Amino acid sequence: MYRLRPAKPSDAELLADVTLAATRAQGRLAPDFDELAWRNGFVEWTLESIADPATDLYVVEVGDRPAGRLRVSRTPDAVELNGIQLHPDIQNHGIGTAILNALQDEATRRGVPLQLRVERDNPNARRLYDRLGFTRTAEADTEDVLQWTKGVEQNRLWNAEVAEKYDTPGTGMFAPEVIEPTVDRLAELAAGGRALEFAIGTGRVGIPLSKRIPVSGIELSTAMIDQLRTKDETIPVVVGDMASAQAPGEFSLVYLVFNTISNLLTQEEQVACFRNAARHLSPGGRFVIELWVPELRRLPPGIPATVGVAEPGYILLDTYDVLNQHVVSHHFHFGEGTEAQLGRTPHRYIWPAELDLMAQIAGFTRESRHADWSGDRSPPNHPPT
Ligand SMILES: C[S@@+](CC[C@H](N)C(=O)[O-])C[C@H]1O[C@@H](n2cnc3c(N)ncnc32)[C@H](O)[C@@H]1O
Repeated sequence: MYRLRPAKPSDAELLADVTLAATRAQGRLAPDFDELAWRNGFVEWTLESIADPATDLYVVEVGDRPAGRLRVSRTPDAVELNGIQLHPDIQNHGIGTAILNALQDEATRRGVPLQLRVERDNPNARRLYDRLGFTRTAEADTEDVLQWTKGVEQNRLWNAEVAEKYDTPGTGMFAPEVIEPTVDRLAELAAGGRALEFAIGTGRVGIPLSKRIPVSGIELSTAMIDQLRTKDETIPVVVGDMASAQAPGEFSLVYLVFNTISNLLTQEEQVACFRNAARHLSPGGRFVIELWVPELRRLPPGIPATVGVAEPGYILLDTYDVLNQHVVSHHFHFGEGTEAQLGRTPHRYIWPAELDLMAQIAGFTRESRHADWSGDRSPPNHPPT
């Protein structure tokens, strides 16, 4: 789709052309704009950037054509996007998104945030960053400072310790009576094509399914991928956010199981996830989601919490924010003594009707809805984990 090559001093004029064309197309040049003075300053600054070891300046090539400019700084604490401009001819083809996804993946792998600044008079760029899950952390002059930390947060949540304990071979979510009907149904729905698992984790479903059909994965936690790799070395897995990352190839099935769409905490990200599924599918392809139905009727009057499990050694307490459709599952593990260990997982729950609407927004039509993998028609109902 695009290629990055380090900029050379001889690229300075070309980078000025691209930057000017992009800014002009956005209608963001002041009426008294002095092109000659701007060009001289820009070229000088570009030569300084090329010589500066603290920053990387690239030419974005599409086909054989140099058509964009990208400047990135890599510090021990962050990946910083210092500027991206694409020629108007190549805008709206997903190239900006793909470059940002690649930087998100780099930040995820390094365990640091991705930071950038956006001019407040550039609403198009701001919309793209919002869609990709950036949040505003500060204001500076005419700019907003934005940050993307989902990779860091998910790696904290799904860290090496959690990943190592995730698999429970033969029992719980790894029991044959859970895995076999899931794999049978997914293989049937793939109808002979290739499957892509969003948030493949340690390959609980992806690995057994890959014995039947080709499977790829997208996953944000590198610790979960490391765990998958102890069992399988062949399934291609892209490190990235299922709401935006791109896996190579076309698929007849994208699936997202074990309530994991609720790990995306905003409606925008959940819609982006549907759109991302659609982007990967060939015509007629299917997107399968496994998700619990919210049980707000279980909330006691005036108390925004339910006890999901209370058994020796384990209590699950879910606390609700019904305005934002958030539920935090608090997992208390304890032994004989008075000490307990607490782990928390935040979710955004989704109503069945809202799922249908998200599907519609992304161009899907609902084919069927079942309570379980064997095809029971009544609605599913099991809590988050
Ligand atoms: C409950 S596990 C499910 C793993 C696997 N699908 C399974 O069924 O066992 C949730 C997984 O979602 C991953 N995850 C959470 N948010 C994600 C995101 N935005 N993009 C990709 N993976 C994500 C976590 O790292 C974790 O591996």
